[in-house]
Amino acid sequence: MGPVARLRRLQRQLTLKVQFQQNRFHAALLLPLLAIISLCVAWGLLYSGPVHKPLYFLSVGDYGTGSVEQRAVGNQMAEAAEKHGAEFVLTVGDNFYPRGIKDLNDPLIKSNFEDIYVEKSLQIPWYITLGDHDHRESVAAQIAYSNVSKRWQLPSPYYIMNIPLSGIHTLDIIVTDSVGLEGLLVKENETRRFENDYDMTYAGLEAGRRQFEWLTEVLANSKADWRIVVGHRPLQSCADRKRFPVEERLRDLLLPLFVEYGVHVYMHGHDHVGQHLLDKGVVYVGNGVGGFGVHPARATNNTVWFRNDYMGFITHKVTPSLMEFKYKNHKGVTMHKIILKQDYSEM
Ligand SMILES: *[C@@H]1O[C@H](CO)[C@@H](O)[C@H](O)[C@H]1NC(C)=O
Ligand SMILES: *[C@@H]1O[C@H](CO)[C@@H](O)[C@H](O)[C@H]1NC(C)=O
Ligand SMILES: *[C@@H]1O[C@H](CO)[C@@H](O)[C@H](O)[C@H]1NC(C)=O
Repeated sequence: MGPVARLRRLQRQLTLKVQFQQNRFHAALLLPLLAIISLCVAWGLLYSGPVHKPLYFLSVGDYGTGSVEQRAVGNQMAEAAEKHGAEFVLTVGDNFYPRGIKDLNDPLIKSNFEDIYVEKSLQIPWYITLGDHDHRESVAAQIAYSNVSKRWQLPSPYYIMNIPLSGIHTLDIIVTDSVGLEGLLVKENETRRFENDYDMTYAGLEAGRRQFEWLTEVLANSKADWRIVVGHRPLQSCADRKRFPVEERLRDLLLPLFVEYGVHVYMHGHDHVGQHLLDKGVVYVGNGVGGFGVHPARATNNTVWFRNDYMGFITHKVTPSLMEFKYKNHKGVTMHKIILKQDYSEM
């Protein structure tokens, strides 16, 4: 089957499943439903333990331009954050174009971040991923900004967050540094994008080796209900653009780990396309559309959905049994939705 036919088939399956869901809300189910609700209310009155609402957060990628597009996406992010009470924002990298920041006095911090996301609802923690553009100047400065800003959170180039959901249930968000990992994969005399700009303390072989050991250990020890790994680079993608060999090899390095340790989702940016791919049970969420522009794209064998004609962000809702991701455009319109259920199968 060709990629287009495969895409159509997946879209049909998706539509069917969505319809099936809607059909279940039939009037005949209303009475049992009411009975259940009454029971739940009664239970809640008797045992007024802590009420756990779903975890909401937003993600955005490839955004740090200072452009009107970034501003427009930011406005919608603020509205979504306000509406759902988002607890944090997660970035998938390229926080500052064109070359990261030099130091804590770099004017880009104000013009391309602080002056863009001004709304009250966005004064929440921002968990940062490093992109290749960020590596062109000081990684240390982006880490150090965590100490200055009330919201910017980058404790180190890669880190893990274990986030409570309810009861004993948790979500692990494991933030990697793709350029750092590529340090492990680059062959002698092979060229890398922006290689002359990179600081080998963060992008060299030793850094890559250390990070890979860390990632393996963190995944092996993760006991969370959900595991999301984040990295700037796509491991596979619909975008039609130049790749350096080292970027291609990142997938071969990481996919076996993801399969072995049950990673549910890999979130990435780098390619300026909204996309959703599926490979060996791992869902790939591409979201590099936060304010730069779009790349040419076409469906691959593993494509479930893609669009390269909008700018936007994603809203994430997580409970112990469900993850719901909505791709939003700069007007707040939902372009695509992913629902994952805790039996590890994708709806
Ligand atoms: C941040 O502040 C802490 C405590 O003052 C200090 O130990 C740490 O070195 C600082 N980190 C950076 C990157 O400046
Ligand atoms: C890398 O370049 C150096 C200098 O040109 C050469 O001596 C060496 O053989 C090259 N290594 C590989 C693996 O091609
Ligand atoms: C995509 O699927 C087709 C048909 O199954 C296959 O021939 C082709 O090699 C696949 N392409 C890639 C990149 O895996």
